[in-house]
Amino acid sequence: MASCLWRYRCRILLCICTPCILLGCLFIYITLALCLAMAHTYPSDGQIISSKLPNGLFVATGTTNSIMLASYPIQPFWRQGLNKAAFWNLIQHVMDRQHNPILQASGNISRKHNITSLNQNGCFPSYEGMWRTSDYFTQPLQIQKFIISMHCRVYPLLIDQPGLCAKTEEAPMLLLAIKSQVPNFRNRQAIRMTWGYSGLLKGQVGKGGLVRRVFLLGKIDEELSEGIKKESEMYDDIILWDFMDTFFNLTLKDVLFWDWFSKRCQNARFVLKGDDDVFVRTPALLDYLENQEKLHLKRHGHAKKMEDFVVGDIITSAFPLRLETNKYYIPESFYKGMYPTYPGGGGVVYSGALVPRLLQVSRRVHLFPIDDVYVGMCLQRLGVIPIDHPAFLTFDFNAEEAKEPCAHHTILLVHKRSPEEMLKLWTETLRPSEECRNTTLRNEEKQEEILSE
Ligand SMILES: *[C@@H]1O[C@H](CO)[C@@H](O)[C@H](O)[C@H]1NC(C)=O
Ligand SMILES: *[C@@H]1O[C@H](CO)[C@@H](O)[C@H](O)[C@H]1NC(C)=O
Ligand SMILES: *[C@@H]1O[C@H](CO)[C@@H](O)[C@H](O)[C@H]1NC(C)=O
Ligand SMILES: *[C@@H]1O[C@H](CO)[C@@H](O)[C@H](O)[C@H]1NC(C)=O
Repeated sequence: MASCLWRYRCRILLCICTPCILLGCLFIYITLALCLAMAHTYPSDGQIISSKLPNGLFVATGTTNSIMLASYPIQPFWRQGLNKAAFWNLIQHVMDRQHNPILQASGNISRKHNITSLNQNGCFPSYEGMWRTSDYFTQPLQIQKFIISMHCRVYPLLIDQPGLCAKTEEAPMLLLAIKSQVPNFRNRQAIRMTWGYSGLLKGQVGKGGLVRRVFLLGKIDEELSEGIKKESEMYDDIILWDFMDTFFNLTLKDVLFWDWFSKRCQNARFVLKGDDDVFVRTPALLDYLENQEKLHLKRHGHAKKMEDFVVGDIITSAFPLRLETNKYYIPESFYKGMYPTYPGGGGVVYSGALVPRLLQVSRRVHLFPIDDVYVGMCLQRLGVIPIDHPAFLTFDFNAEEAKEPCAHHTILLVHKRSPEEMLKLWTETLRPSEECRNTTLRNEEKQEEILSE
């Protein structure tokens, strides 16, 4: 009986004490950890610490070690080792280091990784040695093709439009640069007859401006077809480069277009870069851009060019798709991590003054298979934040909105529309029904609030 009671008490005691002891231990541990961390952040000797790299370059250091001020790095604060998480991350890390003025000056770039400039073939040195040792050969064919050729980015023009932006003395307000492919003749024809009108175009309410149109193409076969040459002579709106026009080569098209624009059309104030299966309400877009210019002028005066204007359907926090059958599939061994914020590639508008900056920064970003993500990567490095506008519908309406009779009068751009639909929508755009005449853009009130802040 006594021993039974004893055992019972013991159990209660154990029940109460164990948590107490554990909590005590946790408290001591946290206190110790905090003390250690603080001791590490604020060394107790009262002198200013500065660390120096070779060549007398000064690396970001703190001012004093006062507890009142923020902590500071005691050593150079970038990783010494390379980011080997995935192939693209690795070669981009090398590229980033190469353009890091402090690391560059420290002369610590191995000769194997030195990729300062393009050679006469328009290529960086190939990374063949690196991908041959990876799981390259087990990848889908389009990835393999991309990896083999991704270090090259200069291809000659087979069809050019040198005079496109200089036909009249007036500089174009908007250049429509439409990604197309040789077989998509019907789409091009529909665009020519509708929203891609080249010439002076009135806005819906505003004064509008001069619009020019150009289709961006690559090759489909080795031979250049007679058809496309004829089409170019007839309409003067085809640019064709000597590279294979595949999905993973669209980034190449972007970079080559930026180069072409910087040489041939730099005076255009805005560029719409879009697919050949979108519908654009060009007059409404001209009004929107006119307002943006006015806003910019009010804020900055004439002195500052519109150098960082991008608007579209902005996609944030996206991850690479890992399903091998998907068109956008990117293997983990090729790219790891999130995508930067980027404007959906179906249709995006940016200022002409941004294009030379994009071209310049693209020289330090390795080509990436998905073109709109690549634009995001370039914008991120320029510190340009794209404007999200709900009237850019690169994923079409939801089912409910699509039923509304004036739905199409609330948008600037919508994906995707057939050539027949384009014709119908254009008629409606030019002559809106009485009912739809005063329709405003989707969430325009919200946009204006944001803009007027
Ligand atoms: C240069 O880089 C290597 C490893 O990449 C590193 O071990 C070495 O300490 C670095 N040298 C300097 C001066 O930073
Ligand atoms: C990289 O190569 C270029 C020319 O190919 C050379 O001028 C430069 O000094 C090299 N940089 C380093 C860090 O080796
Ligand atoms: C891109 O074009 C180049 C040049 O024609 C070609 O060699 C390469 O295979 C193409 N890339 C893809 C992913 O199709
Ligand atoms: C549209 O606006 C105009 C003037 O702003 C007005 O006269 C007209 O009645 C409006 N139409 C409709 C259908 O609301």
